Amino acid sequence: MHLNFILAAALVGVRTSLAGLIDREFPHLIIPLHQDNPMYPYGTQYYGNIQIQDGAHQIWTEISFDVPPNVASSCNLAFAFPPGAPWTLSGDESLGPLTFDVWYISPAMNQSRDAWNQNTRPAVQSWVANVQVGYDGFVQIIGGSVSCAKGQVAQFLLSPGSERSFGLSWFEEANPINGITYEMWD
Ligand SMILES: *[C@@H]1O[C@H](CO)[C@@H](O)[C@H](O)[C@H]1NC(C)=O
Repeated sequence: MHLNFILAAALVGVRTSLAGLIDREFPHLIIPLHQDNPMYPYGTQYYGNIQIQDGAHQIWTEISFDVPPNVASSCNLAFAFPPGAPWTLSGDESLGPLTFDVWYISPAMNQSRDAWNQNTRPAVQSWVANVQVGYDGFVQIIGGSVSCAKGQVAQFLLSPGSERSFGLSWFEEANPINGITYEMWD
């Protein structure tokens, strides 16, 4: 009896704090593109990875979301790298903010083909967001809203935000939310 009451109260609390959020999608495909191996298709991975070292050795990452059909009226990408979750950051913050960019790509990712070389992968369409990450898990997003691709796939490319050396890798995780998700709001 007592336990049921506590569980019910906890569920109400969760529902209240998520008011308006209809759905949160995790990436279905995570495909790294390595500048040092420009024709090699790495296929889909569990880790996201964005890197640049001394202006070279870049790694970009394509991500794909399967977006469900629902009544959502607005959608955005969300980014979370909470302390203690599985992510790593490198780069010298004293030289400038550690950032990456997100771009729309034409929704034609192919995990057995996509590599760094431009002829092997979908074209970049337009800029979506710039995301600053700090060693303490601080995240600041410029942009990030996307059209709701209901019942379709939504696909993006993640690349370093400057020529300065930078590295970010993360394991997509739900509890706590870690990495990049696609949020749908009513
Ligand atoms: C994906 O790429 C592979 C390798 O190039 C190709 O054989 C296959 O037809 C492609 N799939 C689609 C759906 O285009």
